[in-house]
Amino acid sequence: MARKPFIAGNWKMHNDRRQSRALLQGLLDSVGHLDEVDVGVAPPFTALQTAGEVLYDNRILLCAQNVHYAESGAFTGEIAPSMLREIGVDHVIIGHSERRHIFGETDETINQKVRAVLDAGLGVILCVGEQLDDRKAGRTMAVVSRQVRAGLTGVGPEAAAHITVAYEPVWAIGTGLTATPEQAQEVHADIRTLLAEVLDRAAADAIRIQYGGSVKPGNAAELLAQPDIDGALVGGASLKAESFVDIVRAALPGR
Ligand code: 13P
Repeated sequence: MARKPFIAGNWKMHNDRRQSRALLQGLLDSVGHLDEVDVGVAPPFTALQTAGEVLYDNRILLCAQNVHYAESGAFTGEIAPSMLREIGVDHVIIGHSERRHIFGETDETINQKVRAVLDAGLGVILCVGEQLDDRKAGRTMAVVSRQVRAGLTGVGPEAAAHITVAYEPVWAIGTGLTATPEQAQEVHADIRTLLAEVLDRAAADAIRIQYGGSVKPGNAAELLAQPDIDGALVGGASLKAESFVDIVRAALPGR
């Protein structure tokens, strides 16, 4: 089944409003019109509204990097799904390894966030991935399947159109080490098999599975050529229009 590629840039804690505006202008000029690839950007919270204004009525999807699972309440420092929707956010990245490992997010809170975001009518990019010790010990799929199962607990196959999974091996994030296309494809295929079990076959065929971890213009095409790699979640290389645009172009069908 042909899935439309989805390339998203996770800006992490980079870019103030002025820098965000400039970067987005560069992206709009070169890939703002593309039909064949979905393109998304995830600016920091302070630049989201500005980004929403720049992207208004354009194809580039506005993503947030985190969210709280409650709709309102005494949660100092948190942002509700409806607040993101109000300023034009389309997707929310949930369970990024930096949230899991630096900020202590658990599979349970990640699942609460996934459900809250879907309930709010937004799309989810659910991040999963093993640490280096897990891989060395042969526990990659044990870790990844626990994260996928827990993240999607209570979610039904009807939500498939709103779900993207991002496989980001922790050892490949920001390190310059990339999973080989074969290593990534193997995990992506296993995730798809698991999605068929957890949701159903049609949902598993429809859900896009992005690869993330040191994706660059030089390695994007061979990763994206794998049958179960349907896009990329890009960190460092999404901070410059030129490199991000090259990665988006590498996802164009027939390339
Ligand atoms: P890098 O592309 O900088 O390795 O980051 C990947 C990532 O964490 C995207 O969410």
